[in-house]
Amino acid sequence: MQTKIYQNLIGGQWVSAQSGETFLNRNPANIDDVVGEFQSSGEADVDRAVKAARAAYKQWRLFPAPKRGEILYRAGELLLRHKENLARQMTREMGKVLSETRGDVQEAADTAFYMAGEGRRLFGQTTPSELRDKFAMSVRMPVGVCGMITPWNFPMAIPSWKLFPALMCGNTCVIKPAEDTPLSTFNLVEMLLEAGLPEGVVNIVTGYGPEAGAPLVAHPEVDAISFTGSSEVGRIVGQTAAGFFKPCSLEMGGKNAMIVLEDANLDLALDGAVWGSFGTSGQRCTATSRIIVQKSIVGEFTRRLVERAQALRVGDGLNAQVEMGPQINQQQVETSARYTGIAEKEGAQLLTGGKRLSGDGLDKGFFFSPTVFGGVGAGMRIAREEVFGPVVSLIECDSFDQAIGFANGIQYGLSTALYSRNVNLAFKAMRDLEAGITYVNAPTIGAEVHLPFGGVKQTGNGHREGGTGALDFYTSWKAVYVDYSDRLQRAQIDIGE
Ligand code: UN1
Repeated sequence: MQTKIYQNLIGGQWVSAQSGETFLNRNPANIDDVVGEFQSSGEADVDRAVKAARAAYKQWRLFPAPKRGEILYRAGELLLRHKENLARQMTREMGKVLSETRGDVQEAADTAFYMAGEGRRLFGQTTPSELRDKFAMSVRMPVGVCGMITPWNFPMAIPSWKLFPALMCGNTCVIKPAEDTPLSTFNLVEMLLEAGLPEGVVNIVTGYGPEAGAPLVAHPEVDAISFTGSSEVGRIVGQTAAGFFKPCSLEMGGKNAMIVLEDANLDLALDGAVWGSFGTSGQRCTATSRIIVQKSIVGEFTRRLVERAQALRVGDGLNAQVEMGPQINQQQVETSARYTGIAEKEGAQLLTGGKRLSGDGLDKGFFFSPTVFGGVGAGMRIAREEVFGPVVSLIECDSFDQAIGFANGIQYGLSTALYSRNVNLAFKAMRDLEAGITYVNAPTIGAEVHLPFGGVKQTGNGHREGGTGALDFYTSWKAVYVDYSDRLQRAQIDIGE
C-alpha cells in the first residue's frame, strides 16, 4: 500500500513544507508499518502559519462565544461518532492499547463538551465603582495567536486541552504536534473542520522541535505558548518566551508517588499500582513511578505486585488480549534500559523485568518488560528521575510522616496518591503532599478534564490546563469603567460621597 502523504494545514490549505522534506511516522509495535509521511517544516512554514492565524484572528475574535462553543460541541459529537476508528489509528500510531486510545478520544470529546458550555459563560465580574454614576466590570479578552507544542503520549487529549479552550476564548492557533504522533492531531482538527471551524483558525505545522517548535516559540507574532513535554525542553521554551514577555504554560515531568499504608485495602492498592505504573507503558507524566509502602505490608505487597507485573500480556495494542503496548520509540526503550542499569548500580533490587522484549512477534517493536525494583532508597536516581517507561520503584517506609517526606523529597510535583482507610491521614495527605493532584484510594492517573491539571515545583510554571485554569491562560483580563455622570470624576481623589 502506498504511504499517505500529509501536508501542513495553513490558512485552510494543505501545503508542503518549503524544504520539500518529509519524515515517516511508524507504528511502534512494528516499525515496518508506516502510518504516514509528514512534512519536515521549518521557520518559513511556521511563519506562514502564524500569518494565517493572525489573519483569521480578525474575524474569529468577533465570532460570538456561544457559537464558537457550538462548533466545539459538534466536534465532540463527531469525535464520539468516529471514536473506534480514531482510537485504532491512534493505537497504530503510538502503541497504547485500544481501551486506552478510546479513552484518549473520549477525553478530547469531554473537553469539547465542557468548553462548549463555557461558550455561554466565560464569566467576568461586575462590581460597584467608588464613584457615583459609574459602572465597572472585568471581561475576558482573547490573547491572540496561540502556539502549541504537544506530546505523543496523549496525542488527541492533550491537543484538545490546548486547542478547545483557546478556540472557545476567541484565539487562533498554530499547533506543532509531536513528530511521533502527528496523525491524531490531524484527525482531531479534521473533526473541528467538519464541525464548521473557519479556515485559518487552526493551523498545523509538523516537524521536529529545533526546526519547527523553536521558531514557533520565538515568533514575535505568537502571543502565547503552551507546551507539554520534558523539563529539559520546557526550560528552553520558557526562557525563549520570557524574552518576548509571552505568557507561557509549561507542563512537564513527574515522578509520581503512591503511598500505601498498612490499613489500606491491599487488593485495591495493587489494582491501582498496576494500572498507575504500567498503563500507557508508564508513559504518562502522571504515571505511578514510586510506591512508598509501610514496612509491615511491604513483603506481601511486593510479592503480589511482581506476580501481577509478570502476568501482564505485552504486545500490539490492537490485539484485544494485550494489556500493555510498546514504548513510543527506540530512544524511550533505551531510556528504560539505561535506568534499569542505573538502579542496579545504585543497589536497587531488580525483582522482575528490566529487559527489552523480543520473540513472539515483538522483534519489530519497542517493547520493554514491566519492571519492578525493590529495596529502593528515596534518594536514589531511580527514585528521583523520570523514566517515562514501565518501571516502578518500591520504597519502604516506617510511618505516614516518613512517607510524606519521601513523596515530597523530589524536584517534581505533579500527581500523588494515598491508599488508606484512615480519614485523618487522608486529609493530612491532601494538605501536605506537594503536588498539583492528589488521589485518595485511586492511582496517580485518571485526571478529569473539568478539574485543574498541572503541577508544582519543576513540573510546571504555575499554569493549569483543564478546568477554569485553562480560561485564565487563554484570556487576559480587561477592566472596563463606564462613567455616566457627565463630569470628570477622579478616582482616589474625589472621594467625598
Ligand atoms: C499525562 O499524564 O501525560 O490523568 C496526561 C490521566 C489522563 C491524562 C494524563 N487523563 O491519566
